[in-house]
Amino acid sequence: RAQLTSAVLGQEIHYFCEVDSTNNEAKKLAANGCPEGTIVVAETQVTGRGRLARSWFSPFGKGIWLSVVLRPPFGPMDAAKCTLMAAVGVNRAINAVTGVGCGIKWPNDILWNNRKVVGILTEMSAELDVINYVVIGMGINVSIEHFPSELAPIAASLSVATGRSISRVKLLAAILDELENVYVLVKKSGFAPVLAAWRKESITLGRQVDVRGFDRSFSGVAIDIDADGALLVKTPQGVERVLAGDVSISPV
Ligand code: BTN
Repeated sequence: RAQLTSAVLGQEIHYFCEVDSTNNEAKKLAANGCPEGTIVVAETQVTGRGRLARSWFSPFGKGIWLSVVLRPPFGPMDAAKCTLMAAVGVNRAINAVTGVGCGIKWPNDILWNNRKVVGILTEMSAELDVINYVVIGMGINVSIEHFPSELAPIAASLSVATGRSISRVKLLAAILDELENVYVLVKKSGFAPVLAAWRKESITLGRQVDVRGFDRSFSGVAIDIDADGALLVKTPQGVERVLAGDVSISPV
């Protein structure tokens, strides 16, 4: 805590050597009334989770496996945009601390050289039109040298990207600072400025993409995100709106 400079994020810290998933711990704490800004970090996760029911590789001491509890004063429809907000904050922190130029792939992967360095998983609890809590889970690959063979072609870590070692404490402090900055901005001015920042840092817009949704698959050119954070993809049949699903960027 002494090394953190954020005001609200990280005001309560739950640190674990090993945990099933920091998101699960954070959800339990949130359901029991923990304050906004509570964070959960772990050296390793036994059942780290990714989007679309995937698992998340979380080796001991080699990443930042982090979940942040927010209690945003907006409706459940805005929860998806919290993920975009987090991607902007984390990307800024990474660029500031490491100097590595990463880009955001819709909705919330941070990529270096087409390889994933960060994944974000947002989970929410709401009653009627009010959010009770949002847990933003972030997995940052800091110093993983060797990934399992299925991940090796698509994943990277910051130490590999920079060729030097990265301080996890410094990076964590920067992530909490930047996330706090974007969150304060959203509460003050709405999502538009953050969505504009997301567009600038995106590597998806303007590219040919393949979309695999729950019930449909198609290809087209990613042209924009709309005010809800959905990806707009131009296909020969017209513009499709993608709110969830998997998007892969075709090689040029
Ligand atoms: C994805 O890209 O599919 C999202 C990955 C999210 C991983 C992080 S690691 C910390 C937090 N706890 C989890 O179980 N998952 C998230």
